[in-house]
Amino acid sequence: MTETLSFPQDRSCPYHPPTSYAPLRASGPLSHVALYDGRTIWAVTGHAEARALLIDQRLSSDRQNPAFPIPQARFEVARRLRTPLLGVDDPEHNTQRRMLIPSFSLKRTAALRPEIQRIVDELLDRMLAQGPPAELVTAFALPVPSMVICSLLGVPYADHEFFEERSRRILRGPTAEESEEARLALDEYLADLIARKEKDPGEGLLDELIAERLATGALEREELVRLAMILLVAGHETTANMISLGTFTLLEHPDQLAQLRADESLMPTAVEELLRFLSIADGMLRVATDDIEIAGRTIRAGDGVVFSTSLINRDEAAYPAPDELDVGRSARHHLAFGFGIHQCLGQNLARAEMEIALRSLFRRIPGLRLAVPAAEIPFKPGDTLQGMIELPLAW
Ligand code: HEM
Repeated sequence: MTETLSFPQDRSCPYHPPTSYAPLRASGPLSHVALYDGRTIWAVTGHAEARALLIDQRLSSDRQNPAFPIPQARFEVARRLRTPLLGVDDPEHNTQRRMLIPSFSLKRTAALRPEIQRIVDELLDRMLAQGPPAELVTAFALPVPSMVICSLLGVPYADHEFFEERSRRILRGPTAEESEEARLALDEYLADLIARKEKDPGEGLLDELIAERLATGALEREELVRLAMILLVAGHETTANMISLGTFTLLEHPDQLAQLRADESLMPTAVEELLRFLSIADGMLRVATDDIEIAGRTIRAGDGVVFSTSLINRDEAAYPAPDELDVGRSARHHLAFGFGIHQCLGQNLARAEMEIALRSLFRRIPGLRLAVPAAEIPFKPGDTLQGMIELPLAW
């Protein structure tokens, strides 16, 4: 018997799925992988199968289910705490999501575009004034989404170093204790911010939720703190990785970058293609609550399931030449934002930020290039969101 492949694994190249996943790709739409604790779960790698399963109500996101698969020791804490949105099923999920949808609609996001452009321009002005080289993650990729989510939520950006560092540790540890410490610190910070806002209201989604839900008793204080945490962490960590890794990937594909520079109207399709190609959130988890027949296999009640978006989005049945970056292709229906009831709440915002950030960066700095050889630039390990740790650039 061959040994079960462990999941997740580190990428060998920051923009390709780990080469060690090749057997998963070869063995069809569903196979088995082993988690850090030795548990074997299903890995879904087929695009059609993933779409069918992600809308199947027999797959649950409830992290408090003792059979829910946990990818790393530092995420064990999720079993104790009720994670709103991401960690609950309908109808509870639907109630929480409905409360937030208006703030993330296409219309509200479109209205934020001038503010996003202003933030992007200001950061680029500063970067250009300081002159090359620049480290893109701290100078641009992280502050853009961080400033935008702060303004949307009504969180003071002046505190950004505090919450960016805590978010990083919640997601990456390195130890379970450090993740837990960071989570508690951020929890305390947000509880305190909410208490201050109750006395002295400002403008933002948190202020709206306090006035319309907390004050009326429709939302519990603890739930509001956890919601705020999810929105704050998801709102900047994800998009920051897409901006840094997207920039690196385009610089490493000069023909594609030239095509994009020659025709900026390609930017929206290029963003979709980058989302597909990079699949930074590589490993959505679920637990089966009933038996499910799919692709000639049976997922049994209690089985864990992981969706490897990096392989799903490179399924040849869904995309021709899937391992090639093609900014002109229609990458619609990719699963980089998930699918079904948990499909990313912030996707309109993330798209607007990526489009504006990448367009402005490449327009304003025509000679942009890597400041050191690509192989020397550190990128994130496989057990967290994928992205660049640093991105030294020159021009
Ligand atoms: C390019 C950037 C982003 C990527 C790749 C991304 C990816 C994802 C994915 C894959 C899911 C589904 C998880 C699952 O089904 O288990 C998700 C859910 C979610 N995302 Fe994003 N995300 C991004 C940006 C954002 C932003 C900017 C926000 C803003 C607050 C956000 C907030 C959320 C929330 C709240 C959920 C949970 C939705 C629910 O359970 O109903 N994300 N995201």
